[in-house]
Amino acid sequence: MKTAPTISIGICGLGTVGQGVWKHIERARPELEARLGAQLVLARASVQNLKKKRDVTLKPEQLTTDPLSIATDPSIQIVCELIGGTTIARQVTLAALKLGKTVISANKALLCAHGPEVFSTARKHGGRFFFEASVAGGIPIIKALREGLVANRFRRIYGILNGTCNYILTRMEREGLAYPVILKEAKELGYAEADESLDVEGWDTAHKASVLAYLAHGTWVSTRQMVVEGITQLTQPDLTFARENGYAIKLLAVIERDLERDVLSVGVYPALLPITKAIANVNEVYNGISVSGDIVGETTYIGRGAGQDPTASAVIGDIIDAASQLVRGGTYLPTAPATKLALTPPAALRSRHYLRLDVKDQPGVLAKIANCTAKAGVSIASLVQRPSEKPEAASLLLTTHECSEAQIRLTVARLARHSCVLGKPLLLRIADF
Ligand code: NDP
Ligand code: HSE
Repeated sequence: MKTAPTISIGICGLGTVGQGVWKHIERARPELEARLGAQLVLARASVQNLKKKRDVTLKPEQLTTDPLSIATDPSIQIVCELIGGTTIARQVTLAALKLGKTVISANKALLCAHGPEVFSTARKHGGRFFFEASVAGGIPIIKALREGLVANRFRRIYGILNGTCNYILTRMEREGLAYPVILKEAKELGYAEADESLDVEGWDTAHKASVLAYLAHGTWVSTRQMVVEGITQLTQPDLTFARENGYAIKLLAVIERDLERDVLSVGVYPALLPITKAIANVNEVYNGISVSGDIVGETTYIGRGAGQDPTASAVIGDIIDAASQLVRGGTYLPTAPATKLALTPPAALRSRHYLRLDVKDQPGVLAKIANCTAKAGVSIASLVQRPSEKPEAASLLLTTHECSEAQIRLTVARLARHSCVLGKPLLLRIADF
């Protein structure tokens, strides 16, 4: 009788995600191996601290502090890079690809910073690179874009790509808690990045938006070419205003392609999204992505966007795809379309806006504010005054009619300098999708 082939797997990084992958492969092994027609061997894993207590049990000889020794181990065919960051993770990824191995990655920061190098190294040396877990946790959005929706050109892809921020915003809204308290919980639950500022300042969402923009449009957009804003300035009055006016505030990635002029824009910012939209109702650690294609119309994907189990689900999906290719041969279509689009300058983007500013509660102040907006050609659509926590001050909550990013930036800069404005104004976009 013919014996089943063996696929040997090395796990670089046995933290939240790595342990999930190890645990769920052990649990699902009989079904996975039966479907694959091959044996899966969890050969070795690397960690930084050998003494740390783990949820999975390995023999001492299976553990190392040297992830490169796994990447270059001739007996290992599939290397999972689950360390994070862009230094040792890059070395591990490139070393394995240069040896023609298969690399499976959850590392959106690495892809955003070094995507072209990673893909060209894989092509040059016959390595394979899989990265489903890098965007939107357990949602198979990479597969959707590169396989199921391949016939489409994408007018708009937008949604929630960071579980930590959505968890924070949901709990702030529901329970009135301040964001640092909830962030601590998100860390304990394994949702946040090792450097949590990547989550709350919007960078993690920007890394993921860059990966999606590349997959959909063949164009790498760096974070320097995007508007990137996080959630740290949001307060309860903003969430209350949004709810009372039929919106939810969500940290959105927005990737838009003007199909007539063939230009692309990518932005990351907290926005007021009409509550009638499916994405506005995606809460807690869930991510939600709306993809509008010129043939398919709008499709929506919702699922857990962070945490051990959903991310392990995505990594294992890639391991099985990769193992199947190793056993049966074959490769995927090229990762992205062979297009390269020009970018719309961020200053030219247009939107309605929400502004919150604390002002001195004195006669004539509203006229001065209106003068600042009028000078930039920005038209006020609504204005409410609420009590401020600051003494002898009032809080103004404004919405504007549509104007350009350049106009609203000029307005905010003028307001911030004005003697009647106390502190930095908060600016949010209103997403009229
Ligand atoms: P963790 O911090 O939980 O795990 C990282 C692992 O890498 C640990 O085992 C750690 O060792 C090891 N490690 C860290 N630094 C080094 C180093 N310099 N040299 C060698 N080993 C090192 O991270 P996560 O599991 O949360 O994330 C891993 C990757 O997955 C990241 O790219 C992240 O962005 C991505 N990701 C995470 C998700 C999540 O929900 N957590 C979801 C989707 C993607 P030790 O255990 O000894 O400290
Ligand atoms: N820190 C990330 C998040 C992990 O919260 O979405 C998943 O990529």
